[in-house]
Amino acid sequence: MCGIIGILGNAPAAPRLVEALRRLEYRGYDSAGVATLEGGQIRRRRAAGKLANLERELAERPLAGSTGIGHTRWATHGAPTTDNAHPHASEKVAIVHNGIIENFRPLREELIRAGHKFASETDSEVIAHLITDYLDKGKPPEDAAIAAVRRLEGAFGIAMLFAGGDDILIGARKGSPLAVGLGDGEMYLGSDAIAVSPFTTRVMFLEEGDIAVLTHNSAKILDAGGQAAERQVHVFAGGAAAVEKGNHRHFMQKEIYEQPETTGRTITRYVNAYDERVEMPDLDGVDLAADSAIIIGCGTAHYAGRVAEYWLEQIAGVPVETDIASEFRYRKPAFGKNSFGVFVSQSGETADTLAALRYCKENKLKTLAVVNVPESTIWREADARLPTLAGPEIGVASTKAFTAQLSALAALAIAVGRARGAIDAKEESRLVRALMETPRLIADALHAEPEIDAIAQELSHARDVLYLGRGAHYPIALEGALKLKEISYIHAEGYAAGELKHGPIALIDEATPVVVVAPHDALFEKTLSNMQEVNARGGRLIVITDAAGAAEVGDIASHIILAPACDPFVAPLVYSAPIQLLAYFTAVHKGTDVDQPRNLAKSVTVE
Ligand code: F6R
Repeated sequence: MCGIIGILGNAPAAPRLVEALRRLEYRGYDSAGVATLEGGQIRRRRAAGKLANLERELAERPLAGSTGIGHTRWATHGAPTTDNAHPHASEKVAIVHNGIIENFRPLREELIRAGHKFASETDSEVIAHLITDYLDKGKPPEDAAIAAVRRLEGAFGIAMLFAGGDDILIGARKGSPLAVGLGDGEMYLGSDAIAVSPFTTRVMFLEEGDIAVLTHNSAKILDAGGQAAERQVHVFAGGAAAVEKGNHRHFMQKEIYEQPETTGRTITRYVNAYDERVEMPDLDGVDLAADSAIIIGCGTAHYAGRVAEYWLEQIAGVPVETDIASEFRYRKPAFGKNSFGVFVSQSGETADTLAALRYCKENKLKTLAVVNVPESTIWREADARLPTLAGPEIGVASTKAFTAQLSALAALAIAVGRARGAIDAKEESRLVRALMETPRLIADALHAEPEIDAIAQELSHARDVLYLGRGAHYPIALEGALKLKEISYIHAEGYAAGELKHGPIALIDEATPVVVVAPHDALFEKTLSNMQEVNARGGRLIVITDAAGAAEVGDIASHIILAPACDPFVAPLVYSAPIQLLAYFTAVHKGTDVDQPRNLAKSVTVE
């Protein structure tokens, strides 16, 4: 994740940009950079490493100008060098970007053919050249920005500065957050409200597809359809905690909507988009070509491991055993000779998962932690770690940490597949491309919010709810049921769809809604038969599927929640979004405490 700031101001911009970047350093600190307009010309200063390096650079070579943009980078495409640091610029425009531009390769090739010279290995640089191309063709800045943004695929937040344009700053949001700060004769852009908090207390949060065109005295918002739009102005007089929820009512909702960004950050940590390969950090003796693996966690983290079991077996052909930590540690588990253990935990402090890790270490098994909180106990005690980059998760019910775990585990499955010779370079490229599309697909899946909200209104009256799924969507069904139980206190159970007829079908009646997670994949027809079994017994079906699936389900479903069509590999990540929203809105309609449900704790450090 990267941090973005833009200032259209009346005082020297460079020190103010640095002040804002200091607040954004938590989002990334591989490199930092600023650009300002000096006499209408774009001037940049960039430095690899922490912000202090940029400050030194600015002390030696100061920048004048009262309008500028700045960036702290968490390296995704390209090493954390000065050349790869943002802002990226031509003579006409400078940009800072947070997110992933999925179609950067074809755009880059097209622009190189048109004579553009690239100076970095980043996906972001294409944005600067693309806008320049439209400016060269005579479009004014606003039109050039809109034309360029329309051609970008992926998830992004962007701030743009134009040479000669000292009364214009443009921001664009799709998937990655962007806020507009409203000042007195000044305007600001920031990747969150904290970025602009030194300058103003009045903030608008851009919505998906919005473009903000700022002048010193005006902020025009164009929505995804290009229509002028109004966005609510929030006034943050208090501290960062109040700021943190942004446009959202609850932390859980905010965290659900952060997922295009948090999955993007985690995925790009492990993939080299340029070579379309997975790159794992040094795993300190963990042999990815091992003969078997075990995956351990609790609750949601365990379900992430269950999805990974399908991936590791299907992609890498490696036998995998998954277990709940509290069961595993007391059952005297036996290990293969050449095996490794994966320990999945958001907090990195869960007592049972930690005990299972220690048990494995005592038994000389190499251990790998998939953990969200850096320097937590599991992080420190494992032999190697694959961080999930979800950022702090405040809502007690885990959402963005889950999809970040899936992101890291998906990359691990590809790495193991390569290490074991189970996939060739072509297949690895295909899988990496599918992963890179995931943040955008999650953003698309979140568009179903209004329908989900309406269905949740009905669901909030249920006493029991069943969730069904097949293959890697069986754990997603389990996770859906867990989310609903946790925050709405409605009894819910997840079942493998094919298991329904072996008992749970006795529960089906018109009062028991059945949520089916069913992308139109190789197992769809089987799941459809199970839906028919439910329908024949008067059950009410809520089906989460794509357009092809919806066409086949037809009117046996009471409700369909549409998800985007996607590669079956990444479907568990994409389908996580609607099941989370369904639980969230059900709890909202019931009026339960969404962020702090009764009896639960965020980190379970007791047995
Ligand atoms: C569910 C949830 C819990 C945790 C579990 C493990 O929403 O949050 O089931 O997943 O307590 O916690 P960590 O991941 O911190 O080990």
